[in-house]
Amino acid sequence: MTSTIYLDTHFNVGKIDRRIFGGFLEHLGRAVYEGVYDPGNEHGLVDENGFRTDVLDALRPMGMPVVRYPGGNFVSAYNWRNGIGPRDKRPRRPDFAWRSMESNQFGTDEFMTWCKAIKTEPMMAVNLGTASGTDAAELLEYCNMPTGTLWADQRAANGHAEPYNVKLWCLGNEMDGPWQAGHVPAGVYAQRAREAAALMKGLDKSIETIACGSSGREMSTYLAYDREVLEHCWDHVEYISAHRYSNNRRNDCAWFLAEGVEIDRVIADYAGLLDYVRGVKKSDKRIYVSFDEWNVWYKTATPADMDGHWTDAPRLLEEQYNVEDALVCAQYLSAFLRRADVVKIACIAQIVNVIAPIMTRPDGVLIQPTYYPLVAFAQHARGIALTPTVQSPSYTAGERGDVPVIDASASFDPVSGDVAVFVVNRDVKTPQTITIRLADRTVDRVSASDVLTGEPKATNTWQSPEQVHPTQLTATITADGHVLLAVPGGAFATIRLRTS
Ligand code: AHR
Repeated sequence: MTSTIYLDTHFNVGKIDRRIFGGFLEHLGRAVYEGVYDPGNEHGLVDENGFRTDVLDALRPMGMPVVRYPGGNFVSAYNWRNGIGPRDKRPRRPDFAWRSMESNQFGTDEFMTWCKAIKTEPMMAVNLGTASGTDAAELLEYCNMPTGTLWADQRAANGHAEPYNVKLWCLGNEMDGPWQAGHVPAGVYAQRAREAAALMKGLDKSIETIACGSSGREMSTYLAYDREVLEHCWDHVEYISAHRYSNNRRNDCAWFLAEGVEIDRVIADYAGLLDYVRGVKKSDKRIYVSFDEWNVWYKTATPADMDGHWTDAPRLLEEQYNVEDALVCAQYLSAFLRRADVVKIACIAQIVNVIAPIMTRPDGVLIQPTYYPLVAFAQHARGIALTPTVQSPSYTAGERGDVPVIDASASFDPVSGDVAVFVVNRDVKTPQTITIRLADRTVDRVSASDVLTGEPKATNTWQSPEQVHPTQLTATITADGHVLLAVPGGAFATIRLRTS
């Protein structure tokens, strides 16, 4: 079967905001403790701060420009004051969200230090479930104000005289969800969010705030909640959050691999909603989407997987990922690129041990298949996001009907002339011969091309850690200057072209 991807660098949606390659770290299971922070590690895999060095090394290629913290559901009952100051004085507290014990040995200061170690920007979430706008503003005071105030002086006393200047602030988490501590209807949350944003921006007008939108398309209040929040908070926020977790509970690979169609639809829903509220407000302002939780998550979404039985660092949400999951992750990233005009921030949820591309045990890390698309996009998508036109056959994706077999996105870096093309062949049964036709530039060479493929359920294990990993793919330049490649069925390919 053959497909063609048409590109023209004039057809684009503008500059890629690299924050779409962000991550998310929550106090949940073994994400923080035994994940990023493991001071007692008996294999010497820690630095002077107690951070896992092998985890830092594995995360670096993901090039995350921002990391969201400390939750998630966790944040909605969290008292940030418990996580600062001398460690031996920090209280052990039960965590409402995951029925686990929180030792508070890792808190705001440790997170800021960790962000420096991995060269990322913190994206802080505040508790608007059980805490007030004042508590949020005091956390901002702790993080961003120069010394001379109560909480800024406390920060200095804890060894950090210089403000952290945290720019991005999430106003709560999934407040539309009945599972959330302090869950309230949209109107009530909107008031909380607006008050918190006003207090926080009153202290530091350089910050950007993110209002909670819907926690998923399956919610009965999907978009209605978001609309009410946006109408009330329009002048106080820069972003609305969207969350989505994909699942293959029905064990139908063809259906699952058409997930990108739904992801596109969610982004289109938000684009429409934002335009609608902007119109109603008669506003010149633009608000963007912060897709700050996205991933595949279903194998460990059982009540048992979410109950820590009041223990420290329980094994929760330790999902094992496979090839089909990686192909869905690639489609998320392609969807964000194609709508780079709407999505400015996105965070893979999560980064270590908990629904994560990287797993740990005391003596090392295991790389999951979902890691590879994250690295490919972060390393190669540069400059502006192109709008590809794809001509490809369709396949039958169960209840999703006929869906194009090829999902593609592309970027163009005007500085280097590099064009990167990201392709998923959703049809596991049929390889595709793909022609890439670049209308307005000459392809000088194929700088790199690789492919991630395998049996849809193939996975990496501690016994067989390299079963799934990218391999080289042959791509050639034809006599008439196009690029030709053969992509196997059920595969994710990355092609980098040097153009002039
Ligand atoms: O990422 C796991 C959980 O999923 C987060 O805590 C919550 O925000 C979402 O429901």
